[in-house]
Amino acid sequence: MGGGAWTAAAGLMPTLKVQLRAALADDVDAIHAIEVASFGDPWKRDGFRDLILGGNATVVVAESGSGILGFAVSYAAADEAEIANVAVATFARRGGIGRTLVGHVVAKASRAGARMVFLEVRESNVAARALYTALGFAELARRAAYYNNPREDAVVMRLDVPAQ
Ligand SMILES: CC(C)(COP(=O)(O)OP(=O)(O)OC[C@H]1O[C@@H](n2cnc3c(N)ncnc32)[C@H](O)[C@@H]1OP(=O)(O)O)[C@@H](O)C(=O)NCCC(=O)NCCS
Repeated sequence: MGGGAWTAAAGLMPTLKVQLRAALADDVDAIHAIEVASFGDPWKRDGFRDLILGGNATVVVAESGSGILGFAVSYAAADEAEIANVAVATFARRGGIGRTLVGHVVAKASRAGARMVFLEVRESNVAARALYTALGFAELARRAAYYNNPREDAVVMRLDVPAQ
């Protein structure tokens, strides 16, 4: 099944109209602004630039007519993928963009042969944990004091992806 079909079948079409595309170096400022507004321990601007230019990670943006509203960073190797970062602009949340971004990453990883997708999330991050649970991720483990500002445990979550 193609990514678009997977997304539609899983009910992942956003209510806010966005297009997903690979991030470009010119997107770094917009991505970083969302990052800083979203996290107490944000990634550095240059880290995003290096990821976009480096090619080891996949960085996807969700774009509307008014600009970039969200992004996701993921890695894939052999039959595993990892969602390393995802965030949506504060004003655009609860419009289905986060669900669409994560669904896209899972669909793309599945097409590339991933059978498991992993991620880490702050224990207190109710919104993200609800999103991942809604998409079928289950808690696998905890990493004590994994995050800074504030210091907090990480919940490791895993999704098993069926073979295509
Ligand atoms: C987590 C995040 C990416 C979700 O993005 P979003 O576009 O708002 O999410 P969606 O609108 O696609 O929500 C999909 C589902 O997730 C769950 N969800 C999302 N936000 C929620 C919230 N604040 N409270 C409870 N459940 C929530 C719901 O099940 C929701 O479905 P529903 O709207 O039909 O009830 C967004 O809140 C965000 O950017 N947070 C800050 C960054 C962050 O925490 N990233 C994750 C790091 S691990």
